[in-house]
Amino acid sequence: MRIGKFITLEGGEGVGKTTSLDFIQSYLTQKGVNLVVTREPGGTPFAEKIRNVLLEPSDEKVDVDTELLLMFASRAQHLAELIKPAIARGEWVLCSRFTDSTYAYQGGGRGISFERIRTLEQWVHDDFQPDLTLYFDLPVEIGMQRAKARGHLDRIEQEDLDFFERVRAAYLKRAKESSRYRVIDASQSIEQVQSQIATILNEVL
Ligand SMILES: Nc1ncnc2c1ncn2[C@@H]1O[C@H](COP(=O)(O)OP(=O)(O)OP(=O)(O)O)[C@@H](O)[C@H]1O
Ligand SMILES: [Mg+2]
Repeated sequence: MRIGKFITLEGGEGVGKTTSLDFIQSYLTQKGVNLVVTREPGGTPFAEKIRNVLLEPSDEKVDVDTELLLMFASRAQHLAELIKPAIARGEWVLCSRFTDSTYAYQGGGRGISFERIRTLEQWVHDDFQPDLTLYFDLPVEIGMQRAKARGHLDRIEQEDLDFFERVRAAYLKRAKESSRYRVIDASQSIEQVQSQIATILNEVL
């Protein structure tokens, strides 16, 4: 039985994951939860090196399988060195992006089959799944506007709108199929989003 809970935040570009991460961190900390906050790809020094390789713009075409395998390489490191030890100590882990992002981006976006991703998921963390996943849903154009207003775009953010429409469709499909997902309408005001998040968190506290 796991005492510490594993909560993940998911969604496309500019949907408000980082904004909500800060809110959730202070909300849970106030409630006395011992919380580790992290992100993917990355989350440990070595995994962050893999993140840099993944996200820096590249003159050489990056093969879709290379991208997929690096995502899971980063995740294996993150799970072994940070996530699993924290949960074992009874702490909670709040992570921006996890394997659902791989289904959405490398699956929906890049077109790799879900079955193939599932094989790697089984290899890297078979029965270790988030207890709760908050999915922030937002029309793609609004998210891109928010992300662009914030600054430069990384290699994956430079994809076209069709790519992000496929990412969103993949997320929505998975959200329908799994009870650990909670869908948040990210077009609401920050205050409305936070109040919805607080209601959801109170269910697991
Ligand atoms: N509900 C909201 N309404 C309006 N603006 C918002 C809302 N939530 C976040 N923002 C703003 O949108 C921008 C993007 O938000 P944020 O960085 O939290 O998104 P993100 O999901 O972390 O994006 P990325 O995937 O690119 O890291 C920020 O400038 C933030 O202040
Ligand atoms: Mg962010």
